[in-house]
Amino acid sequence: DSKDKFILDLPKVELHVHIEGTLTPELRWKFAQRNGQALKLDRTGTVYHSLEQLKASHNIIQSRPGHGIDNAEESFTFFEAYYGGFDVLVTQQDFNELAMHYFERVAAMNVRYCGPFFDPQGHTRRGVTWDTMMGGFRATQEAAERNLGIKSSWIMCFLRDLTPESAMEHYQAMLPYRDMVIGIGLDSDENDRAPSLFADVFALARETGFRITAHCDVGNKDTHNHIHQVVSALGVSEAHCIDHGLNAAQSPDLLRLIKEKGISMTIIPWGYLRHEPVDEIFPRIRALYDAGICFSIASDDPTYMEDTWILHDMLLVKKMCALSTADMATLARNAAEMCWAPETVRTEIL
Ligand code: ADE
Ligand code: ZN
Repeated sequence: DSKDKFILDLPKVELHVHIEGTLTPELRWKFAQRNGQALKLDRTGTVYHSLEQLKASHNIIQSRPGHGIDNAEESFTFFEAYYGGFDVLVTQQDFNELAMHYFERVAAMNVRYCGPFFDPQGHTRRGVTWDTMMGGFRATQEAAERNLGIKSSWIMCFLRDLTPESAMEHYQAMLPYRDMVIGIGLDSDENDRAPSLFADVFALARETGFRITAHCDVGNKDTHNHIHQVVSALGVSEAHCIDHGLNAAQSPDLLRLIKEKGISMTIIPWGYLRHEPVDEIFPRIRALYDAGICFSIASDDPTYMEDTWILHDMLLVKKMCALSTADMATLARNAAEMCWAPETVRTEIL
């Protein structure tokens, strides 16, 4: 309807999307064919012989709840599915086509700027070189700006289930490409992996001029402690960000801290819906909004979340939090205000 059209037409900035989480079954099939790979999807080692079988397997992935946080007995976790998809990313062309598909998709949703995440450790450990990865991403970045009018800058995430030493090595290895990278993030399995483990590399990145952010995922048992540590140990303040952090809505102290420090957040409604009860999600998002915290809506891993992209996340939050079109315009403006693009780019969008 016309209200949906209003949301579609809002100029958007997307600040929490894992580029590897935008891999469709179609692209996965195409890259595997091109690279001469058999597609093995789960720990049973099942080989998929057709795109139809592969699509059906994505549907199974999508219908399973959880981020691998509290579902260790499940036969198939989100992270197995997600990292399984990495295997087909081999050549510069693969990285380029993956990213280009994302940019084309969100260009149709009026995204004007984005800061996609990438997980280099998931690629270097398979023998992919930095030139392959960054060469593919650079080609996309340039083509997206030229052909789609979308400006962007990459955010390199460390896998928190790997060591701080590995994070530091990857930080150093990224520096030759630093003109493409605006920020440093922290993702992957958060269970028993406190942000403070990575304090040294985040301090270095901050002092060098990178923006920083870290996942504090919804439903993690230590989430309040982790949100606190992102501020106290990683040094997140006004210039930086927290990814998720929704559980702060339950803690007056954390809400005050985030508000006082002027920290912004990214919120992914469809992602939470997969593993949290509805009435624990939307009242909290609404509470953040009513507390005047600056957050933006994003899509996280669209192809592993029932094919929901930034527009779907915005429509969902509008409906479930009973937000007006004016409120949605505020959320879209938040995204442009909190993003790490140069001032000239931000005012163009605002
Ligand atoms: N890496 C990619 N997607 C992720 C998610 N949803 N949570 C944590 N790490 C991730
Ligand atoms: Zn994420």
